[in-house]
Amino acid sequence: MALIVVTGRGGAGKTTTTANLSSVLASKEYRVLAIDGDLYLPNLGFHFSLDNVKYTVHSLLKDPDLDPEWAIYKHGPTGVYVMPGSSQLYDVLGISPRRLVDLIERVKYKFGVIFIDSPTGIPFDTLPTFELAGYQIIVVEIERSPIYSFETMVKNEIEKLKAIGERYKLDIGVVLNKVREAEDVVEKLIETIEEDLNVPVLGWIPFDNTVPESINAGIPIVRYAPKTDAALAFKETGDILEEWIFG
Ligand SMILES: Nc1ncnc2c1ncn2[C@@H]1O[C@H](COP(=O)(O)OP(=O)(O)OP(=O)(O)O)[C@@H](O)[C@H]1O
Ligand SMILES: [Mg+2]
Repeated sequence: MALIVVTGRGGAGKTTTTANLSSVLASKEYRVLAIDGDLYLPNLGFHFSLDNVKYTVHSLLKDPDLDPEWAIYKHGPTGVYVMPGSSQLYDVLGISPRRLVDLIERVKYKFGVIFIDSPTGIPFDTLPTFELAGYQIIVVEIERSPIYSFETMVKNEIEKLKAIGERYKLDIGVVLNKVREAEDVVEKLIETIEEDLNVPVLGWIPFDNTVPESINAGIPIVRYAPKTDAALAFKETGDILEEWIFG
């Protein structure tokens, strides 16, 4: 079962969400693989202290004869299997994102859940993988919208990304991230999204300064600081995600 994580704008929290929801599912004994599909600016490796490894998704895309297993690393603290990307310029040039599909086809039978972290906006790098995925998670940072146009901006962003997932018949869910607004404002926004756009909001994650700290430590916050508000919110969102996928 593959899930693709997307956002409309850069820095909304795709990679953080990928890392944390993977960790929550791994803690429930699923075999979880998190793949960096952001081929141009990969950074999933940082979230798991795997930013300086020999084999990456880029090595595999360059040389199809390599065994994909070589680029899969088990992250000790969370138990998530990670296929990081390479941030070296010469690795990023001249690779074909189309091959990402073959790569996933070759490893998918070994995992219960595969998360694919995507580039921002229309995710050109991972679009081919929409053909084999079942789910799309749209991460929206709501703090950035000016308050008067808040709802419209958020709905617009979700609508555009939803259209892509629908074209591939994916089940679509939303995660709101970096929330600083009062809870009642968020609850109202969630109601509007669910009613007007007809997509479930799987959860909302508060803005929490421990998130960047956990990335620096290379351990997703659900494991790094499990009692923080953001960790508890990711955990709850992971529970809902599990229910959504596996019923
Ligand atoms: N809930 C949160 N609270 C505080 N900071 C957060 C939260 N979620 C993410 N961040 C911070 O925001 C930054 C961007 O997060 P992240 O890299 O996950 O976003 P992204 O959507 O993957 O970005 P990109 O477009 O660069 O791929 C990071 O520095 C991270 O520490
Ligand atoms: Mg990212």
